[in-house]
Formats: sequence, structure tokens, C-alpha cells
Amino acid sequence: MKLLDGKETARIIKLEIAEKVNQRKKDGKKIPHLAAILVGSDGGSLTYVSNKLKSCEECGFESTLMRYDTSITEEVLLDKVRKLNEDKSIDGFIVQLPLPAHIDEHKVTLAIDPNKDVDGFHPTNLGKMALNIPGFVSATPAGIVELIRRNNVETSGKNCVIIGRSHIVGMPLSILLSQNSNPGNCTVTLAHSRTANLKEICAQADILIAAIGQPNFVTADMVKEGAVVIDVGTTRVDDATKANGWRLVGDVKFGEVAPKCSYITPVPGGVGPMTIASLMMNTLKALDLKGK
Ligand code: GUN
Repeated sequence: MKLLDGKETARIIKLEIAEKVNQRKKDGKKIPHLAAILVGSDGGSLTYVSNKLKSCEECGFESTLMRYDTSITEEVLLDKVRKLNEDKSIDGFIVQLPLPAHIDEHKVTLAIDPNKDVDGFHPTNLGKMALNIPGFVSATPAGIVELIRRNNVETSGKNCVIIGRSHIVGMPLSILLSQNSNPGNCTVTLAHSRTANLKEICAQADILIAAIGQPNFVTADMVKEGAVVIDVGTTRVDDATKANGWRLVGDVKFGEVAPKCSYITPVPGGVGPMTIASLMMNTLKALDLKGK
């Protein structure tokens, strides 16, 4: 069993980005600037956003955090998005999800300028990804593909089962891994809550990707001997032994699944850091695309 070390791979990617930013500085060019909108104070979202901003610092980017109370109206939030679209100093920005129930996430996503949509959530970018033409690929799927690529995991002709059809992970990942590219060329099954015989389907997978947000959902009996297992889950569970009172648990029961795998991602330290590294890559790309 080999660990797919997302933390180490992300560290290398961020070093590569920092070098490019340094070169930009030497050439008197603009430094990438990422902005993040965070509504409310959900613990998980707060951690994600602060990790993103910390990575900006590591890469030599400028960053701006815009925090609003959950009482912000949809209209005011849309206005903030429009202002970021127009702000020439901002190269890319994200609106951290989920948003409060009274705000329509689709409306907010549609309001983002696709050229600044470094999360790759806008239909224009999702469409470009589906057609395999240049654009922004959403950070978690892009991070998973990059982790596979940098660790030389063979994907061509493999049977890949993805559990979870979310618009930000499972659905785009199913498209990326079925494309005629490397990594890619998988035969992909996108499984979800209505899938019949899920255990049997998972047990056929050469590559099994769990993205459902249910701690320890994937057990050893669902995994083929020698499979590659990628765990996208990061659920906070109470843990009195930890200083902060919680720990992150993945969708895969690591202890019993790992011995059967050829490769497996840990949680934490697997997909999470790769998601952030991809966001940094997208932000640098947003600036490069402007030709500045
Ligand atoms: N919420 C969970 N993952 C993400 C992400 O990648 N981007 C944003 N904006 N919100 C998220």
C-alpha cells in the first residue's frame, strides 16, 4: 500500500507557484490577488477559507477576505460579487459555499465573471471543462487529477467508481476521468444515493473515489484487492482528546481499507491540501490569461 500524500504534493506545487510569482516580481509584473467572500461563521467554512488565505501567503499572492453576517441579503451579496468582477486589482475570487438558505447559490455563481471564477463553478467553466477546452476546472476535481498525475497512477482503461454526484466534486470528476486525456480514459460509474447494489459496484472498481460526506462509509468489503482509493470526505466529528474538540474523518474506513489498496489518500493530508493547491494554480492562471 502506498499513501497518496496530498500534503507533500501540494507543498511542491505551492513552491513551484511561489517561484513563478517571484519571477513575476523580478519582471515588475502584477502579483496574483485572490479574494474570498465568507458569509456567516460556520466552523468548517472558516477553516477552509483561512487555509486558502494562508496558502496565498505561501505562494506570494495578495489576498482579501470579505466577511459578512448571515443576515446579508441576496441583493447586497450580488452587488459585492459585481464589484469584485469590476475590481481590476482582483484576479480571481471565490464565494465560500454553502450560503445561508435565503440566498440562491446558483444566482450568486452565475453573477461571477467566468474569467475570475477560480472555483470553476460558473456554467461557462463547467461547459468548457466538459468539452475539454481551456477554462477553470473546479479545485477539488482538478486537485484529485493532479494528485493522480504527479504520482503516476495509471488510469487508462481502468474501471472508476465515484460515489457522490455533487456539482462541485462527483459530477465534474466523472467527466474529467472519462475524457481522452492522461489522467483519464477511465470507464466511469457515477454512483449516488439511489444506486442499486452499491457494494457490488464498488467492489468492481480499480479506482474508487468516495465523495459523499458520510464518515467511514466505505468498508473493506466494498474494495477490490489492489484498488486505488481516493477519499474526498472531511466531516468534523467530536473528539474530546483533541485540543479543538473535533477531528476530520473521511468517507473511507481507512484502517480496514488501506491494507487492500495499491494507493490510498489519508484524511487529513490527502485531497484537502490538493484542493487548495489547485485554487492557487487557478488564481495564477487567471492572471496569466489577462496577459499582465
Ligand atoms: N465549499 C466546499 N468546497 C468548496 C470549494 O471548493 N469552493 C467554495 N467556494 N466553497 C466550497
